[in-house]
Amino acid sequence: MTGASGGGDLQREPAGPGRTIPCVELPANAQRFSGFADLYDRVRPTPPPEAAEVLCAYVGRDRPDVVDLGSGTGLSTRWCADWAAHVVGVEPSDDMRAQAEQEARANVEYVRGWSDDSGLPDGSADVVLAVQALHWMDPAPTFGEVARVLRPGGAFVALDCDWPPVVGNAEAEAAWDHCRAAVRRHEAHVDTEVRRWAKEEHLARMAASGRFAVCREIALHHAEEGDADRFVDLLRSQGDYQTLRRAGIDDATLGLDEFVATVQRTLGRAPRPFWFTYRLRIGITPAAR
Ligand SMILES: C[S@@+](CC[C@H](N)C(=O)[O-])C[C@H]1O[C@@H](n2cnc3c(N)ncnc32)[C@H](O)[C@@H]1O
Repeated sequence: MTGASGGGDLQREPAGPGRTIPCVELPANAQRFSGFADLYDRVRPTPPPEAAEVLCAYVGRDRPDVVDLGSGTGLSTRWCADWAAHVVGVEPSDDMRAQAEQEARANVEYVRGWSDDSGLPDGSADVVLAVQALHWMDPAPTFGEVARVLRPGGAFVALDCDWPPVVGNAEAEAAWDHCRAAVRRHEAHVDTEVRRWAKEEHLARMAASGRFAVCREIALHHAEEGDADRFVDLLRSQGDYQTLRRAGIDDATLGLDEFVATVQRTLGRAPRPFWFTYRLRIGITPAAR
């Protein structure tokens, strides 16, 4: 795996005039998501529609201007396009951004940038969000950049879904946990140079940053259709699994073969609801005086 010293397309350029100077270099965090954009885009869920209603209500706009930090393959950005006036997806990985740009929308643009160095103008957004992405971003400089880009009374939100989705089969869900535990055990022995921040601590860190007047957490869920193949592919779309495969560790060692056999036996091919619970950690910037 390419790390901080050899990030290929993920090398960071020096911050330009008037740009935030990033506090830490994190190319490994973005490099982790390169090379499986197709799979990611095909199987990952989108946030519930109610999340958009909540955000529009907080900022008092029917169609807000939105910035999507860590926009990846554009899954989250396209979700925003349905309720935003304009969305900018900010993504450092050329691979992910190229996949996103294949599905053009009139009110969407993508830029190469970082959560702490987006290159976007001051006060240009009503909502800044990070979907399944804030845990890869250095919190203090990211919150500083968010506060700069948001208008007064704007909303920052980190959206993360619980893994695995609820599929109504305890054996399949237990097999997921078993395989994930094996992946985590192996990852501890591979030097990936990746840094991450615990999702459960997002809200406390947002409050401690002093950038937001109000912070709160809510949970919303929605159902999408799935079957055994999607359950397996959701696990295969996790960045740590992909990193270990690139490092040459095979599926049998990672417990994937056993997981696939259990899931195919228990879930089969008939579509069923997969329930995805999203946790929204929301921070509202102070209103203008
Ligand atoms: C799990 S993906 C989420 C993609 C998308 N938001 C979604 O919901 O499908 C995380 C994304 O964050 C990007 N990323 C990692 N570190 C970043 C940083 N410091 N600034 C901006 N994006 C970053 C990765 O390249 C990756 O595309």
